[in-house]
This record gives sequence, C-alpha cells and structure tokens, in this order.
Amino acid sequence: MTQNLADTPRPLSADTTPAGEPSRWWRDAVIYQVYPRSFADANGDGMGDLPGVRSRLPYLRDLGVDAVWLSPFYASPQADAGYDVADYRAVDPMFGTLLDADALIRDAHELGLRIIVDLVPNHSSEQHEWFQRALREGPGSPLRERYHFRGGKGENGELPPNDWESIFGGPAWTRTTNPDGTPGDWYLHLFAPEQPDFNWDSPAVADEFRSILRFWLDMGVDGFRVDVAHGLVKAPGLPDLGSHDQLKLLGNDVMPFFDQDGVHEIYRAWRRILDEYPGERIAVAEAWTPTVERTANYVRPDELHQAFNFQYLGTAWDAAELRTVIDSSLAAMRPVDAPATWVLSNHDVTRHATRFANPPGGTQIRERGDRELGLRRARAATLLMLALPGSAYVYQGEELGLPDVTDLPDEVRQDPSFFRASGQDGFRDGCRVPIPWSGTAAPYGFGPAQGGPSWLPQPAEWAELSVEAQTGDPTSTLELYRSALAIRRADAALGAGSEVTWLPAPEGVLAFRRDSFVCLVNTTGAAVPFATEGRLLLSSTEQGEPGALAPDSTSWWAV
Ligand code: NOJ
Repeated sequence: MTQNLADTPRPLSADTTPAGEPSRWWRDAVIYQVYPRSFADANGDGMGDLPGVRSRLPYLRDLGVDAVWLSPFYASPQADAGYDVADYRAVDPMFGTLLDADALIRDAHELGLRIIVDLVPNHSSEQHEWFQRALREGPGSPLRERYHFRGGKGENGELPPNDWESIFGGPAWTRTTNPDGTPGDWYLHLFAPEQPDFNWDSPAVADEFRSILRFWLDMGVDGFRVDVAHGLVKAPGLPDLGSHDQLKLLGNDVMPFFDQDGVHEIYRAWRRILDEYPGERIAVAEAWTPTVERTANYVRPDELHQAFNFQYLGTAWDAAELRTVIDSSLAAMRPVDAPATWVLSNHDVTRHATRFANPPGGTQIRERGDRELGLRRARAATLLMLALPGSAYVYQGEELGLPDVTDLPDEVRQDPSFFRASGQDGFRDGCRVPIPWSGTAAPYGFGPAQGGPSWLPQPAEWAELSVEAQTGDPTSTLELYRSALAIRRADAALGAGSEVTWLPAPEGVLAFRRDSFVCLVNTTGAAVPFATEGRLLLSSTEQGEPGALAPDSTSWWAV
C-alpha cells in the first residue's frame, strides 16, 4: 500500500523556524477540525476524501484559520470511522493515496495553513498485522505482548479477566479462539472489540510509535492530535475497578486505565522527537481527566503542547459557570506555561447549536430543541470563545451554524457505540453528517453530482445553510466567523497572553477587557441594560436598543 515518494518534491514547511527555536505559532492558533469522510467527496462515492479536502483548502484559508486537524484517514476497516487503524503509514483507499496526502500537505503549506494529523496510539484495528499474527500464532506468541492478552477467570476461563467496561458499552474484554478451535485467552479493548488496546510496557510498541511519528513528520505535517492520550498506560496488574457504574466515574475519578502517571514518560520522549524538526511541530492531547489541573500535566514544558479543554466544552450557556471554567482553565495552564485551549464542538459530541437549543444536559443531546435559540446562543458562544487568550478549535460545519441531525433513522447509523448496549455517545452520527457546500439538492456540493450519494443523509433544510447560500449575507453565521477570524488575525492581542480582566457586570453577563478590547456576553434571554463605550467591532446579533445588551448575545468593542 505504501507508494514511492522518492521522486516527489518534499512539502514546503509553513514555517522555516529552525529546530529548537520557538515561533510559538500554536499558542493562539485557530485550528479547524476536518472530519474527512464528511467534508468533501471528490470522486463521488458518497464518502469524503483527501482530494476533496485539498480542493477546499482555499475555503479554509479564506475563512481565516491557522491550521487544519484531520481526523484519521489511514488504512482501516472503519469499525470506528477510522479510529481503528490497520496500517499507520498508509492512506485508506476510501480516502485516497499517500500521494494525495503529500499533495494536500504541500498545498496547505503554500496557502499558509498548517496540517495536524490524528495519531491513534491507544489501540489498533483488530486487522493490524501484529494483532492478526498474535491471534494466529496463539498463546506464547511474542506478538501477544504487544497487546493485553489474559486468561479468563472462572473454572474454564469463561469470565473476563477483570471488571472493566468498554467506553462503547459491554465488557472491555473479548475472548479469542485458539488456532486449534478451543476457547482461548481474552484481549482488552477499552473501545470496540475491533480496537484492541496496545500494551505500552512493550518496547516494540514504543519504538513503533516513535517511528510512526517520524514518518509523518518527514512527510511535513505540523503536528499530531493524540487520540485517547490519557489511556496508554494501565495500572499494574490491571486491577478491578470495583464499580458497576463506570460511566459515572469516567471523567470524575482517576481510573486504573485512564490518566495513569506513567503516560507522561511517553510524551517526554515524543517531545524530544518533535523538537528535532524545524518549524515547531506540535502535539495536542485528547485527554479526558477529572480536573483541569490534571489536564495541565500533559502540557508541561517537556511534554505535549496543548490539551483539549473538555471542561469548557461541557459548560452550560451560563455566565457564572462560564466564568468559573475560564478562570480555572487559565489558572491551571499558567504554572506550566501552556496556552489554554477552547472548544465547543467536535465529532464525538452533539454540536453546540443543538446543545444550546436544549436545557443543559451534558454533551450528548438527542432532542432537536429550539433551533433559533440554539443558533443564537451558538453564535454568541463562538464570539466568546474567540475572544479568550489561547488556542481555539473549530469543528467543520459549526461556521455554518449546523445543528446535529437528531432524526437519523437507525438503519443509516454507523457509530459503533450505537450498536453496543448502554454505551456512551451512541448518537455521534448526528454531528458527522456531510457538509452542505452549494446548490439546492443533496448532496449540496459535498459530492460532484447532484442527486449523488452521501454516507449519511443530509436534511432538506440544509440547502439554506450551504457555504454558497451564506456567502455574502452579512447576517449569516459563516460571515460572522469570517469577520471574527479576520479581526482576530488583525489584532494579535486577541488570542495572546493568559489573562482576562473581568469588569463589573450584572448577573447573567460576562464583561472582560484585554488590552484595548472589551468583550460583553449576555447569557440571559432578556436585554440587559449595560453602559457600553468605545467602537462596536462585531456582534453575534443585532444589538437592539442602545445602552443594552441583546438577549443571548456577545459583542466585541474597541476601547
Ligand atoms: C476518541 C475519538 O475522538 C473517538 O471518535 C473514538 O471513537 C475514540 N477516541 C476511540 O479511538
């Protein structure tokens, strides 16, 4: 599957800063997440692909983002939409070829965009060559040490080795069949059974991932998003959790399989590799930890550069709660001198336009809610996020104000957790529906032919939300994002630093100053009298009467 790239000119780096000399581009970068299967489909098979992404890079440059993070496009049976990797150095034919990846990286750099790729080190696909050999060779195979194989409990080994549950529901263990057909050992999979967990105590695993890092760094990528960064190291002996309510504990407690202190050694080794390359290559941790303080451990100066701020993502549209999480996020990052990050949506949670359309209730919402209210708050939440110091993540389609598709019929769903009993996140397909680009009929420019396929159906009302329909309409969400990102680019102070100065504000309102910039947020459903001064730069909605903040709105002021 590997193509010969020897004759291809190497990608230009977006940044010629020599190795070891920080340009710090990432500290206030706006990073746009592309979910390749749902972004743009160049060959018309209903599945987005790398040539599709490449053709839309000018759109991303004009939107005003700094970098693009691509969810996995590697060779994969797609049991978990590519987060089950069979070959870490090959592009899945569904998405294109390695040459397409090379061309994409090169084009992005020419446009001044950086490319961040996903790295999935906690588990492979069951189709990975190592795992297949481990199964074939049976007990005693040295390949089995690269995963967690264990004998079962019970008289005949018929019970799983411990009480851990899969994040997608059901036991975290699956029993194997020996080459002679008899029931064999069990293997650990914190996610789907098709995603066996690597054993990071095995030197072969650590060596392999250092080599994979170098492979993509040599291809010219500017960084990595590290999947399940908190999961690689398991507590010695794989002790029972001792609880039957694991999902409740997740994210609230240190678990024997998450956020173990040993993971940090791995990231120190990776940081040394990243620092060998010119142009400041970075890594961002997907680390679900109980507190922002524990998240900060992943971004100590000799570890990774950023970590997603899931505490922020999970915060309700409420001034007091937002202020608390903003303060605690900034405070947690200061001692380690890492930038805070901010994120409202991604491919695993209900889009924020739908979360805010409903009463607060976590990140998995199944109801359509009040669309108008949700969009109004989503626009306001975005302007708040983009006014905060640090780096911000934008998930494809949020710039169009897309809601989740909450009424997908069961027969089109593909999220593996939907099919496993009582799993977390069973409805992630709703935020993964392909993007509407243009036209009045599905797939709305996602694929080349009108009436052509898309792997998930798009709702009829998405014609009005397409890039084409919103472009040039000053009231559209797309133009709001374009204006906000242009202002953020022009005024470097907007994302810089690590402080906000809170100004006195009535209940339900957030007011803060950053240099000569003031951000005012009204999280209530009523206009709030507020004496504003300075020049209005941008507002998420019509501001209405002078001297008052419109309901559910954010405005930016130059003072
Ligand atoms: C986190 C990814 O974002 C999610 O989509 C995936 O299912 C799990 N990790 C497992 O890789």
